Amino acid sequence: MAEQLSFFDLKVKPIEKVTNVASVPQRSPFRYPGGKTWLIPVIRRWLKQESRISELVEPFAGGGIVALTAAFEQLADHITMIELDEEVAAVWQIILSDKNEWLANKISTFILSPQNIELELNNPNKALQDIAFCTILKNRIFHGGILAKGSGLIKNGENGKGISSRWYAKTLRDRILAISTVRSRIKFLNHDAFDYIENNIDRADCFYFIDPPYTVAGRRLYTHFEVDHEELFRKVSRLKSKFMLTYDDTEEIKQLAIKYHLQFKTIPMKTTHHLKKKEIIISDNFDWWQ
Ligand SMILES: C[S@@+](CC[C@H](N)C(=O)[O-])C[C@H]1O[C@@H](n2cnc3c(N)ncnc32)[C@H](O)[C@@H]1O
Repeated sequence: MAEQLSFFDLKVKPIEKVTNVASVPQRSPFRYPGGKTWLIPVIRRWLKQESRISELVEPFAGGGIVALTAAFEQLADHITMIELDEEVAAVWQIILSDKNEWLANKISTFILSPQNIELELNNPNKALQDIAFCTILKNRIFHGGILAKGSGLIKNGENGKGISSRWYAKTLRDRILAISTVRSRIKFLNHDAFDYIENNIDRADCFYFIDPPYTVAGRRLYTHFEVDHEELFRKVSRLKSKFMLTYDDTEEIKQLAIKYHLQFKTIPMKTTHHLKKKEIIISDNFDWWQ
């Protein structure tokens, strides 16, 4: 039977405080729906359960905050990021290549006007670096950073600044150039997470941070939202490596954890709209939790 403990059950130093995300260094050029910046203090603790980790694998990488934090803070020797979305993948492929300066400069010199936005987004012949630029552009000017079909431009934004309210060109440039200083330790694959996990299921030497699209909100937020959750649980239960799997706190997910004999805990968080909710953390062990 899976051990079901809430944070109230823990004896020593329970993780019960909601993280102030402003205290976590923002390293990603994305503002990512479902991003895990708020979980970083817990992830640091999880990764420090071993003095040296040879590889951290992030199969649903998205905005990659976990991978980037591990790279900058040297929490693992090597980091592998996997993401299926081709637009998101283009950003990582360019940032981790010699074209990173091109992207950084393109962002810092771009004049954000409706005409220029239209020209960029409607360009029919996009090379990979153009796709990367347009992805960052859409992520910054679309409501909630949502890239999925049906997403629209920010209307009022911060202080009524509309489309420019999240276009921090210099910050984005600096983040991209900073990532290039750690890129030799990061490998990116535009692959399916399920295939990757299956092909590496017997490896015992890595740590998996697994953050799939959630059961409820995923459809609205991501182009690739359809995930066979039960199949993911089945695969995770066969992993020989250490893992952390995160989910929204639903009955369906708790039942899957119980069915596959996986331990879990709940953790409070605040959404971007300052609503308090709980998420589920599933892991092979919780010795690191306290
Ligand atoms: C919850 S988001 C990850 C957010 C990320 N942890 C962060 O902090 O930015 C889930 C991601 O999984 C990607 N995805 C969905 N299906 C996938 C699959 N089969 N293989 C790889 N990535 C997939 C989505 O495109 C999305 O970027």
